[in-house]
Amino acid sequence: MRGKVTVVGAGAVGATTAQYVAQGGYADVVLVDIVPKMPQGKALDLMQAGPVIGYSSIITGANDYDATAGSDVVVITSGSPRKPGMSRDDLLKINMNIVGSVTREIAQRSPNAVIVVVTNPLDAMCHVALKASGFPKERVIGQAGVLDSARFRTFIAMELGVSIEDVSAFVLGGHGDTMVPLPRYSTVAGIPITELISAERIAAITERTANGGGELVQLLGTSAYYAPGASSADMVEAILLDKNRIMPCSVYLSGQYGVNDLYVGVPIKIGAGGMKEVIEITLTESEQAALDKSAGAVRELVEAMDRISAAS
Ligand code: LAC
Repeated sequence: MRGKVTVVGAGAVGATTAQYVAQGGYADVVLVDIVPKMPQGKALDLMQAGPVIGYSSIITGANDYDATAGSDVVVITSGSPRKPGMSRDDLLKINMNIVGSVTREIAQRSPNAVIVVVTNPLDAMCHVALKASGFPKERVIGQAGVLDSARFRTFIAMELGVSIEDVSAFVLGGHGDTMVPLPRYSTVAGIPITELISAERIAAITERTANGGGELVQLLGTSAYYAPGASSADMVEAILLDKNRIMPCSVYLSGQYGVNDLYVGVPIKIGAGGMKEVIEITLTESEQAALDKSAGAVRELVEAMDRISAAS
């Protein structure tokens, strides 16, 4: 039986996620947005691409949540996107209200769904969705690491002039400028990139990766959407097809990597029901210090949200 996936927010990231999920052919998709007619239009347009591309997924657009009932996976992309000069953190206040209310609507109608959060600032928004849904932490997961490691893979392949097919890369930490690309665990056909690329060039590539979202905002005048959409769809597929993939995702840590009660990006086993397990790898002192710094940046956002909630 085909699964049912809801994508909330039919902007560029949401519509692209819906497109890649529909193309996968394993799920029907409901695209929700508050803008009248727009999600219906994008859904119909995506349906009409089906005969050309060769998928038969049913894509439905809606302005309310009733059509989302009984979803297996819900991807939350709604929120204000980053504008040039705006940090992910500037978005905090606007998007915590949006993600909170969207999550409550979703949780009522799809009590067994896995929620994949995409809205920025990502790790902080996962906290909002966890609380608003009341779901167990295994079913509220943030999409960031798949995108960040895809960027890292792309830059490694560009640097070496090799196919991305043979490049695998790892990024830990929060989805922010303090994220932690891990060269030691990034390989080309199994060979660590530290054997293939000079330390200087690796430093440049890891920095470009950490600023990857900002680079796109500068170019596009808004957030990126092809790679974020593809990355979100990859997680949806892993969950619906119970693939047990190992992917870097933002999950609620309870002591792993020395981090407590915080969403941070780490490798997890992901399949039916969401997160199955956190994969702990050994970090060097400097990697652990970088992860601690990144977790600290997420914690500051969570504390800022607590202050905003207390004041309102
Ligand atoms: C990015 C935004 C979506 O990294 O956070 O492109």
